[in-house]
Parts: sequence; C-alpha cells; structure tokens
Amino acid sequence: PNRFDGKIEFREVSFQYEDGDLPVLHDISFTVKPGETIAIMGETGCGKTSLINLIPRFYEPTKGEVRIDDIPVQNFRLSDLRKQIGLATQDVLLYSDTIEGNIAYGDSSIDLEEVEKFAKYSAASDFISKMPEGYDTVVGERGVGLSGGQKQRISLARALAVRPSILILDDTTSAVDMETEKQIQEALRHLDFSCTKVIIAQRISTTMMADKILVMQHGRI
Ligand code: GTP
Ligand code: MG
Repeated sequence: PNRFDGKIEFREVSFQYEDGDLPVLHDISFTVKPGETIAIMGETGCGKTSLINLIPRFYEPTKGEVRIDDIPVQNFRLSDLRKQIGLATQDVLLYSDTIEGNIAYGDSSIDLEEVEKFAKYSAASDFISKMPEGYDTVVGERGVGLSGGQKQRISLARALAVRPSILILDDTTSAVDMETEKQIQEALRHLDFSCTKVIIAQRISTTMMADKILVMQHGRI
C-alpha cells in the first residue's frame, strides 16, 4: 500500500522472549482508529517497549495477532510495513553524520527546507541553528556531543521525516523540559499528513492530548 489508513488492532496478543522464562505480554487487546493518538503508561519493565516492537514486527506474538487496517501485519512485505512506520526508539541512536543526514536518514530525497521543517516540529531548530555549523554539524560517535534531550528531538525529527502513517514514540520527550514538550505536542497535533500516534510516556503531561490511555501493569492492560 502507498499509505495505511492507520488503524491498529491488537487481538489477544501474548508475547514471550525466546530466551525468557515467562510471558511479558498477556492477552493484550485494543484498537486505535486512524489518526488517533494512544498513550501507553506503566511502571518500568511492564512491557511497553515489548508491545510496540510487535507493530513493525521486530518480534512476533507468541499468541494472538496484530493488525493494521484489518490486515495481519505478517501479511505485509516487511519493507512495505516498516516504510509506513516512524519510530523513535527509547535508546536514541545517532549516526556519525551531519544533523541533516541524521534527520533525513529514512528518506534521503528530502531537501534541507523539509529537514528544517521537521526539526521545527520537534522543537530542535533553535539549538541546531546555534551549533557551529548548523545542519552541517557532524554528530554521533565522531561528532559533537549532544544532550539527551537534544538527541531525542533529532530522533523525533527523523521519525517524522518519513511522513509515516503510524508514528511510535518510545519515551521520546522524557529528557526535554515541560515547555519544550508542550511545543512538540502542539506540533504533533498539526502535522501536514495523517498519522496514528502511539506514545509511550512516563509523565501524565505527555499523555494529556491522547484520545486513549492504556495503563499497563506486569504485561497486562
Ligand atoms: P521501561 O522502558 O523501563 O519503562 O520498561 P518497558 O515497559 O518498556 O518494559 P520492556 O517491554 O522493555 O520489558 C518488559 C519485560 O521484558 C521486562 O521484564 C524485561 O526484563 C523483559 N525484556 C525486555 N527485553 C528483553 C529481551 O530482549 N529479552 C528478554 N529475555 N527479556 C526482555
Ligand atoms: Mg521501554
């Protein structure tokens, strides 16, 4: 498909890591409508990251099914599926490349103007423009160091830059201040493409804009 509508459905999904001795997800069922925002909260280790990892099929459920637009995810070609998903992972990985290259990583055809737009959405443009070489500043292992919150915002800009029909943010604003987070939330509400959002967060303030909040405990909703 060119674009998903963005409906996500978990049907009685259970999951256990191959090397684990107990399931980490039990009987998870929920539906997110196209364009909705769903927030996932819950204490550390309750299974939030494990749950979202099933959407791009980094792992397969041990039981049950994950569907997008009513089609089981395993029926899509992996590349078609993943092309539609923008993911900012909990452990941010920046490549040894310029800031522009890091943001445009998933779609090298986008131009600097667009890269700047996505940096603005993710409240990163101010600090980037203050860097010695702006968008040409090399970051990552061989480049200048960035703070945790700065890395998160670049990772968010990268996830947005593929104009995904499903955006997954795993704790992506945990290291930015409340004011910056508010700006980001406002921007996420007004993206110029349709997008279902799955947002894992610790702070209640991050989840206030959600249509639905899932609270997890010990692998259950
Ligand atoms: P935080 O990110 O700390 O808030 O936790 P989370 O809610 O994202 O939990 P996560 O899904 O990462 O972990 C759920 C459970 O699965 C925990 O008991 C982890 O120890 C376990 N777990 C996570 N990753 C792996 C893995 O790669 N292998 C195994 N065997 N267990 C894992
Ligand atoms: Mg996690």
